[in-house]
Amino acid sequence: MEPDFVQNAAFHNDLAAHYDVHLRSSPYNDLAREAFRDLVARLVPAGSTLLDFGCGTGLDAFDYAQRGYRVLAYDNSPGMVAQLEARCGAQIASGTVATCAADYPSFLDRFPAWTAPDAVVSNFAVLNSIRDLSPLFEIFARQLRPPGWIIVSILNPLHWAKVKAPGWWREAWRSPTGPRLFSARPYRTYLHFLPAVLKAARRFHLVGRANAGMFVRYDAVAAAGKERLWWGDAGSPTAHVLWRTPAFRLLGHFTFLALRRDP
Ligand SMILES: C[S@@+](CC[C@H](N)C(=O)[O-])C[C@H]1O[C@@H](n2cnc3c(N)ncnc32)[C@H](O)[C@@H]1O
Repeated sequence: MEPDFVQNAAFHNDLAAHYDVHLRSSPYNDLAREAFRDLVARLVPAGSTLLDFGCGTGLDAFDYAQRGYRVLAYDNSPGMVAQLEARCGAQIASGTVATCAADYPSFLDRFPAWTAPDAVVSNFAVLNSIRDLSPLFEIFARQLRPPGWIIVSILNPLHWAKVKAPGWWREAWRSPTGPRLFSARPYRTYLHFLPAVLKAARRFHLVGRANAGMFVRYDAVAAAGKERLWWGDAGSPTAHVLWRTPAFRLLGHFTFLALRRDP
């Protein structure tokens, strides 16, 4: 069997030129992206350096550069990075954006010769392509400048549409606490539950989390204050009510996690 990163890079190299159009398949993708970037901008001071892990075609890198961040853009797929380089040509020329398209094991072995980032950001389920997150979070813990942020958007493992699939329960039986294989095609995708992420990112603590679907609801964890943020203004009155109950954990295709490693 091909390693995950090889299978994944082949798929994304083929998809690269069509990726931006492909994202339009869900009306909620734009809302999720807008909310994610906004959350990053609220948590990480402008002027900081962001490592965009699994940067794809640079939709976010371009936006972060416009907002005054320096961006280190890494992806396992050279085809996706080529698209980013076309989009961010001016920012690369000015030194605001730097790129790296090494394969994933090389990234783990030799962190690119970049200045230390202040935050890792990773949008649209990149981490769901990686089975074991511990080595990656260990690299981030070593490389990040204090305090060191990780802000990620991963697949919501409790999304009702996944939970109702027989495969969800089969994998729950096989791997009750670890990463669960969710789909094998077109590339292997794993579901990561919060306790497992926090265990893998043991040098970081959770600052807040969000669910992103028809709405995006962000709640800071109690120790970080009681802040709650909302994005989106669509949907029926029932949906409005549901998103205000604990059942909102079953809603939304994506979960955002904001983690910080204090000194
Ligand atoms: C769904 S796309 C998301 C791209 C981008 N973050 C965005 O918001 O549009 C997933 C990206 O993750 C990259 N990727 C998958 N596995 C990776 C890995 N192990 N290391 C780095 N990048 C990876 C893929 O090449 C692809 O560009």
